[in-house]
Amino acid sequence: MSFCQHLTRLPSRNFLQHLTNVGCRSMSAAAPKAIQNPDIKCAKIFINNEFVDAVSGKTFQTIDPATEQVICEVAEGDKADVDKAVQAAKEAFRLGSPWRRMDATTKQDLMIKLADLIERDRDYIASLETKDNGKPFLISHMVDVGLTIKCLRYHAGWATKNMGQVVPMDGDFFSYIRKEPVGVCGQIIPWNFPMLMQAWKLGPALAMGNTVVMKPAEQTPLTALYIAQLAAEAGYPPGVINVVPGFGPTAGAAIAEHMEVDKVAFTGSTEIGQLIPQMAARSNLKRVTLELGGKSPQIVFSDSDVEAAIDNTHLGLFFNQGQCCTAGSRIFVEENIYNDFVEAATEKAKKRKVGDPFTNVDQGPQVDKDQMTKILELINIGKKEGAKMTVGGGRVGDKGYFIAPTVFADVQDNMTIAKEEIFGPVMQILKFKSDEELIARAHDTVYGLAASVYTKDVDRAITMANSLRAGTVWVNCHNVFDTTMPFGGYKMSGQGRELGPYGIEAYTEVKSVIMRISQKNA
Ligand code: NAI
Ligand code: MG
Repeated sequence: MSFCQHLTRLPSRNFLQHLTNVGCRSMSAAAPKAIQNPDIKCAKIFINNEFVDAVSGKTFQTIDPATEQVICEVAEGDKADVDKAVQAAKEAFRLGSPWRRMDATTKQDLMIKLADLIERDRDYIASLETKDNGKPFLISHMVDVGLTIKCLRYHAGWATKNMGQVVPMDGDFFSYIRKEPVGVCGQIIPWNFPMLMQAWKLGPALAMGNTVVMKPAEQTPLTALYIAQLAAEAGYPPGVINVVPGFGPTAGAAIAEHMEVDKVAFTGSTEIGQLIPQMAARSNLKRVTLELGGKSPQIVFSDSDVEAAIDNTHLGLFFNQGQCCTAGSRIFVEENIYNDFVEAATEKAKKRKVGDPFTNVDQGPQVDKDQMTKILELINIGKKEGAKMTVGGGRVGDKGYFIAPTVFADVQDNMTIAKEEIFGPVMQILKFKSDEELIARAHDTVYGLAASVYTKDVDRAITMANSLRAGTVWVNCHNVFDTTMPFGGYKMSGQGRELGPYGIEAYTEVKSVIMRISQKNA
């Protein structure tokens, strides 16, 4: 299957380019080449630049969600392994260690080297991601690997730009503010964008000179482990990056509760996101940043380019099997275009091709059986509560966790499917009459991660962008990310920001240095 044939089915090249913003040299290089059964080279715990078994000797299985077959056994880390990893990270962070003494330029070069190695192994890494997660191969290749490389190259530059300030303090003092690394950073990441979430967390942490103990999601541990090993190849000293695969309540909680972890960054469900600060507080008050769930509105005015809005809202919801924290799952459509919009959105969902992610499809399986079951339950609740299902509604086939693209129209604000994060290929369409009514309804959620507005009226776009309580507001687009732009949530969608200068702040401590100056020579 040629690259171009792939692209006839996948989101337009334009869309992929605006997602990845090109950025990568290899976009125009060799065509992506999928490896259907990638050799599994790294499936143990990574500590001090070496792969080791779990202290308990236990392993768990990681499953290919397209076939339900076991890919391999992975070492199952728990508290004992987290302890070992934290000791390694602490030793690597010790004053005078190679990492602490490393020049900023060398730190920058190491991260660029890591990005280059990921680019070298791009076909393999994209194949591994598709095998473990189920997303279409070309998306893994262009979006996930593409943005990962870009994220690392962006953060590499920060290593040499970590500047403090000299302050005109009163009195005979020389005073300055110095930005220092936080220390050992625990990072707990999810399964929807495994390698990209790893890069979002490693990038700022390493650029600022921290050391890391990371726990990938139990559904998708493989790319994080492979990339850790590439980091060793790039030249990161032992103990700087440690990866402990395992489960949340054991390995994850051990990180959040650890007395010698200085910061924890978590991406995942709001439910667990509420536990992390409690664990942090009752252990050592470690710093916490959280990136959690959403129920993001996409608002379509009749004065928009409606055809483009139909395309954008479609991808804003269905992209990545609907497994995006920013999924635009509440689509508010202005009354006078509502019926036509529902019809067009339904037709578009019908045309989505679902199947083996190594073939020419738009949509692969959901990540695991639990997610599939949760989504199917929510679809049933939608039907029971009286929303009008216009397409989809069930599983596709009986092998693999595939769900038919589903659209609900006539959704009311108080229905469960208008409130709960579904995290699947299920679109909710709601009708609105006026701007005033709309803002209140769009805000009627515990979440505040993202929102989008489709309109050609600049005044309306700016008023809406200023009014919506969300960490990101898109105008005439959705799900456009860039490493330069901070990302995170209002309300129960999170705490703090990742990416851009704000993401860097989250990985620094601020130190005031005040030196008395003798005036005797003045
Ligand atoms: P989760 O929040 O349980 O898992 C995310 C990460 O947290 C994984 O690495 C997991 O092992 C870890 N974890 C779980 N329990 C933990 C604990 N007690 N202490 C420390 N770490 C823990 O999410 P899950 O169960 O995979 O999915 C549930 C729902 O969460 C999804 O249906 C979706 O709605 C939402 N979700 C949101 C994501 C986002 O990007 N914001 C990503 C994944 C899930
Ligand atoms: Mg969970």
